[in-house]
Amino acid sequence: MSAAPSIGIGLAGFGTVGSGVWNTLESNGELITNRTDGSTRLEIARILVRDLAKARNTTGEVPSELFTTDWKTLIEDPAVKIVVELIGGTTDAYDIVAAALKAGKPVVTGNKALLAERGAELFAISRETKTPIHFEAAVAGGIPIIRSLQDSFIGNHIHSFSGIINGTSNYILGRMTDAGLDYETALKEAQKLGYAEADPALDVNGWDAAHKALLLATLAYGFPIDPAEIHVSGIEQVRPADIKFAKNLGYVVKLLAIIRQHKDGAVECRVQPSFIAKSNILASVHDVFNAVAVHGDTVGESLFYGRGAGQNPTASSVVADIVEAARGIELSNHRGFLPYTESGSMRPVSETSTAYYVRFDVTDRPGVIAEIARVLADHEIGISGTHSPVNPDDPDADFVDVVFLLHTCPFGNLQRALAEVEKLDCVNSEPVVFRIESLG
Ligand code: NAP
Ligand code: HSE
Repeated sequence: MSAAPSIGIGLAGFGTVGSGVWNTLESNGELITNRTDGSTRLEIARILVRDLAKARNTTGEVPSELFTTDWKTLIEDPAVKIVVELIGGTTDAYDIVAAALKAGKPVVTGNKALLAERGAELFAISRETKTPIHFEAAVAGGIPIIRSLQDSFIGNHIHSFSGIINGTSNYILGRMTDAGLDYETALKEAQKLGYAEADPALDVNGWDAAHKALLLATLAYGFPIDPAEIHVSGIEQVRPADIKFAKNLGYVVKLLAIIRQHKDGAVECRVQPSFIAKSNILASVHDVFNAVAVHGDTVGESLFYGRGAGQNPTASSVVADIVEAARGIELSNHRGFLPYTESGSMRPVSETSTAYYVRFDVTDRPGVIAEIARVLADHEIGISGTHSPVNPDDPDADFVDVVFLLHTCPFGNLQRALAEVEKLDCVNSEPVVFRIESLG
């Protein structure tokens, strides 16, 4: 495959997310080139920061000549074909995005505050200049919810969204609930982990979630929404006592965003700390994870779940948008099966390992369990439990089920052991195997 010409990226911001984008392109750049049929070689051509002297913690060294403190060089440099805005805020970020669009350079941004507050102006410029803005990372970090709304659900009326769309506040509530931390300590942890906004007030006062809710609602319902029309309250008022009360009543406390369109067409959009039943799926969304349930008229209910903040998950979305922008430039839209390696191989199922539940149909006589256990031991399979339930319909039956719970072992060992067990006189039919998966 001949080397693809590189597409230069102007990266505005090299903090948590910006440096994550650099790292991802360092580690997965070749994979991206291969997956785009060799057409897309992404190269960071310029990096905008505030402080040139700051130490940068990255994979590989970043050539110092890439750094600048003058955003205009990103726009003016002919090597920069795509501008990625990751500085945050709504002033300098606005100037950079607007200038890039006017220069015909596609923009990628993760800045929900900017799009919620000034998106109408920017998308007007985008439309006028026929230059796209990609913003997957602006809502729910690594979860591809924006692309799903723009593409996969385009044929749906969206009835509602409900979900957890701020990772920092979910992290804080979780640490207060599970580790009994106070609010300030939990917030400091979230900041250290790179989850919080530069101004963490936005995370805890509900406005970061509200900005994201506004973006979702605008995509779904197609009219400009004034942020002032969203009812927003954050988690600053949540006390350990509230969490304890919730627990005693069978609830957990989550910062929820609720968006729904009523029958008269009016849209309800609000962000509030809420009690939800422990049994609700959103109650199991822990740590920095986000989850968004979308209800469309044709697709029905869909649930999106994943990491909603943090360096790598967010970089994953930004890089996907950069590739999307590059596709627009290089016109390589082939998205089918692209063979790009000859070294792939499949793992035989016999070499896959889990624990197991195995049910045997046996003749009810003393020693049956020992006979089966001996064969399993010969194949180095450990037993964590056995059970032989009495048939309630016929306690005197000659044939009974015996259940074995087995420790983790290669499936091949189990297959060989069961082939032998099946030959025992006391075993009447082929054993039934369930894998016990520890997912996660
Ligand atoms: P960050 O760690 O604070 O990094 C901001 C970067 O922008 C820094 O490199 C800073 O330069 C640079 N910068 C800020 N203002 C500047 C200015 N006026 N001129 C030039 N450079 C400037 O922020 P982040 O967490 O990476 O977030 C960046 C954006 O991504 C925000 O819009 C945020 O909402 C969004 N986002 C973040 C996450 C996340 O998990 N962190 C997830 C989704 C979306 P110095 O390094 O020199 O200070
Ligand atoms: N501060 C945001 C959060 C980052 O915690 O969800 C992701 O948008």
